[in-house]
Amino acid sequence: MPKYKFATLCLFALSLVTISAQKVADVIRPGEVWLDNRGTPIQAHGGGILYLHHTYYWVGEDRTQTNDPDKRYVGCYSSTDLVHWTFLKQLAFTDPEHIGPHWILERPKVFYNTPTKKFVLYIHLDGPGINNTDPNATGYKLARVGVYTSDHIDGPYTYIHSFRPLDQESRDIGQFIDDDGAAYLIFESRPTKGFFIAQLSEDYLTVAKQTTFIPARLEGGAVVHYKGLYYVIGSHLSGWAPNPNVFATSPTLSGPWTEMQDIAPPETNTYGSQSSFLLKVSGSKGTTLIYMGDEWKPKELWDSRYLWMPLDIGVGTLKLPAPAPWTLSTKSGVATVLSATVPSP
Ligand code: GAL
Repeated sequence: MPKYKFATLCLFALSLVTISAQKVADVIRPGEVWLDNRGTPIQAHGGGILYLHHTYYWVGEDRTQTNDPDKRYVGCYSSTDLVHWTFLKQLAFTDPEHIGPHWILERPKVFYNTPTKKFVLYIHLDGPGINNTDPNATGYKLARVGVYTSDHIDGPYTYIHSFRPLDQESRDIGQFIDDDGAAYLIFESRPTKGFFIAQLSEDYLTVAKQTTFIPARLEGGAVVHYKGLYYVIGSHLSGWAPNPNVFATSPTLSGPWTEMQDIAPPETNTYGSQSSFLLKVSGSKGTTLIYMGDEWKPKELWDSRYLWMPLDIGVGTLKLPAPAPWTLSTKSGVATVLSATVPSP
């Protein structure tokens, strides 16, 4: 074969490899290990996304196996395309209320308060109880939220206080920012057999008022507003084990809410995941609503995985499709689900 033909052929093959490598790298793969820019698995479990100045910030529980067992950790990452994540900081927290060795920090969520220019971090703060002196005591008896502030998304964060929102026991928390910028805390409250959505105060440091109470025993609560309807999702109370997550809709955030319906075939237990957050990505060509769920591995929490999928939403219907690799353009707002056989990088 003439040399030039061989060279052209090589160039062609190289460009094919480059294109497919590019595509392979740009794919979100539910349930697979998701690496950050350092090549380290992302630690942002039970997390949420804050969108600010054209950047997405992903904040969640950092369960790295080698973490100091006396501290609790929050992982903080940034991205512009929601696929490639830059590690910003591993935030370390000490027990803020002298709860004891088994204190719990879960489901961190960061809000940005424009008037005070502060990042406000809410956590589910829990443990066996503040007056419990038994060092071996475990449990979720405290049922409070903890609040921290910082001048920067990635800290350092200053502890402000802890409280029970609306004087109710509060375990799993979720966050919602409405299109008008109003900020809400979603929290599960076992004794009331339901969960609340409550508007934050002007400075976001506390909860100002109840917006709605949904009489459904659900946790992992998340809300999104789309085409005139509010969609709320949540999981049943089965600890780390997945269950059939459900949704309801309402024309206003204060209700009335429809009956709960499954988001996926119930026998799949939400494809092995638990709801954490709903993310709306609007672009030049459309809007994608992303389900962010956790595939917990209770014995190896550090290896828990993420199930992110674009939701199928109609008017008042919501369906989590079977997990498959997918791509997203944050510019156009369009998601494309690929065939399940796209090779891994
Ligand atoms: C789940 C909850 C998690 C964690 C776990 C502990 O139901 O969503 O955040 O608290 O229980 O068992």
